[in-house]
Amino acid sequence: MAKINAGILGTGHAYPEGILTNADLEKMVETSDEWITSRTGIKQRRKAAPGEYTSLFAVKAARQAIERARIDPAEIDTLICATVTPDQILPSTGCLIQAELGANNAAAFDLAAACSGFLYGLTMANGLIRTGQSRRALVIGAEVLTQYVDYTDRSTCVIFGDGAGAAVLGPAEGERGILAARIRSDGRFAEHLYAPGGGTRRPSSAETIAGGEHFFKMKGNELFKVAVRSMADISREVLGEAGKAAPDVDLFIPHQANQRITDAVARQLDVNMERVYSNISMHGNTSSASIPIALDECVEAGRVSEGDLVLLASFGGGVTWGGVLIRW
Ligand code: ACO
Repeated sequence: MAKINAGILGTGHAYPEGILTNADLEKMVETSDEWITSRTGIKQRRKAAPGEYTSLFAVKAARQAIERARIDPAEIDTLICATVTPDQILPSTGCLIQAELGANNAAAFDLAAACSGFLYGLTMANGLIRTGQSRRALVIGAEVLTQYVDYTDRSTCVIFGDGAGAAVLGPAEGERGILAARIRSDGRFAEHLYAPGGGTRRPSSAETIAGGEHFFKMKGNELFKVAVRSMADISREVLGEAGKAAPDVDLFIPHQANQRITDAVARQLDVNMERVYSNISMHGNTSSASIPIALDECVEAGRVSEGDLVLLASFGGGVTWGGVLIRW
């Protein structure tokens, strides 16, 4: 019997009202709009206000996705919240979102794969749907990264922003839905992007806080190289698995990390830039939220139509990376 792919039934996104511009950052660290724009493509990013937390944006994005999928929250049987910035350590942010949504029949949990979290979540949901264990899966990518950003460190504070995106998945009809999905990781590069303090290895203490150990530390240069190679390779893998090639792709949404990374991956894959979506100038890097926010923006703007081939690719802390190919 032919396997039934998971398809996306509805998408949504949300972000804080607060905006942090390059001009704002110029007043905080030794940097310039010119440097940030030319090295990253970022002009502004959203920043949660004090008292705003991850599940607030996740719930907003999820409600929109549920409404557009025309389902009742009680139909959701699987709720995956991809995040590295949970509301709190216990319980999972997934469970907090579940309660807010009234998704009472769902198994809810968090998934930590940094910027690849949403594609990890799509891959999990696809597996559960293909094997008949789920009929309605809600996958969310949500982050308040700015809580972990050191606003005296110019190499990280210009990059990250906050937001959430969501998708409802269910069995797809015919040849549509997720045609191929692959996820990978390599923990040998763990310290390319990490927060050393605050976990069981270095529990929070006056010393770890004073040393700023709870803030993200990043080897930007090293990540850059891994990012381009891994996203290009995994894109070729999923295209190959589905018997497709780069010219077949109607819309390519890479993880929004840096415009130069996006350009390099598109060049390596030989995908026409007109088919590559970028919102990095408006949002910066929102980690697991980046791809679902971009996807929903494309849906809202009419950039994706039924039958289109949509390629998603990500990389992130861990390091992790993934590729998902969808017939819309
Ligand atoms: N303003 C001005 N100068 C800066 C800034 C800044 N904001 N940041 C760094 N510099 C300086 C550096 O100090 C360095 O100066 P030096 O030559 O005197 O030492 C110089 O600029 C060059 O620094 P590089 O780090 O080599 O700059 P690069 O061109 O690599 O850009 C960047 C840095 C933007 C971080 C880039 O490496 C990048 O985007 N890497 C990928 C990072 C990423 O995507 N991380 C997220 C991973 S995904 C996740 O899971 C969340």
